[in-house]
Amino acid sequence: MGARLVILISGRGRNLRALTEAVRDRRIDAELVCVISNRADAEGLAYARAAGIATEVVAHIDFTERSAFDAALAARLRTYAPDIVALAGFMRVLGDDFVREFAGRMLNIHPSLLPKYAGLQTHRRALAAGDAEHGATVHFVTPEVDGGAQVIQGRLTLQPDDDEARLAERVMGEIELKIYPQAVAWMARGDLRLVDGAAVYKSRRLDQALTMAQLEEAFR
Ligand code: GRF
Repeated sequence: MGARLVILISGRGRNLRALTEAVRDRRIDAELVCVISNRADAEGLAYARAAGIATEVVAHIDFTERSAFDAALAARLRTYAPDIVALAGFMRVLGDDFVREFAGRMLNIHPSLLPKYAGLQTHRRALAAGDAEHGATVHFVTPEVDGGAQVIQGRLTLQPDDDEARLAERVMGEIELKIYPQAVAWMARGDLRLVDGAAVYKSRRLDQALTMAQLEEAFR
């Protein structure tokens, strides 16, 4: 049996869908044991339920302290003994204790060419800056928000008619839905690890993120 995968979401769940499909068709050698949302109304939850995946809600609004939410989420997560925790549009910042507990097992996808535009409204910021390129990055999660070791980064060239919505859609469709399943597949296979804070891919320490050129045929 493959790695035990838990996916954390807050919203629409397009990355969740792509990961679920890749697990189903065995491109990712993992068992998707649970989807956890911090919002009861996340669209992705309905998808997961319909797909027959176990779901849980740990609602941040039920907690006044951030640390109490983290502790409750960690406790839920622990019961699933995950080998991989994939944050897929999970919109809460996790505290140091939480991150330390799941360090090396936890990946995130962020819609920017990190280290540019950590945080929110990345597409708007790239447009406002007049950037020539934009993209998305998969990285290990460390206490620094969107700052952990990078795994794979995809980029696209901005087009004159890109507005925020169109750009978000292009980054999602052309990049995110490809690089995230690929990164999780590598991790499930044991080809991707975090060693002393650095991403290691097939025994090679990555000084910079892999690129779309490294996508395997099944993920292009
Ligand atoms: C994605 O752009 C992801 O990179 C970001 O939030 C968005 C979530 O979209 N962190 P979805 O829930 O996967 O549809």
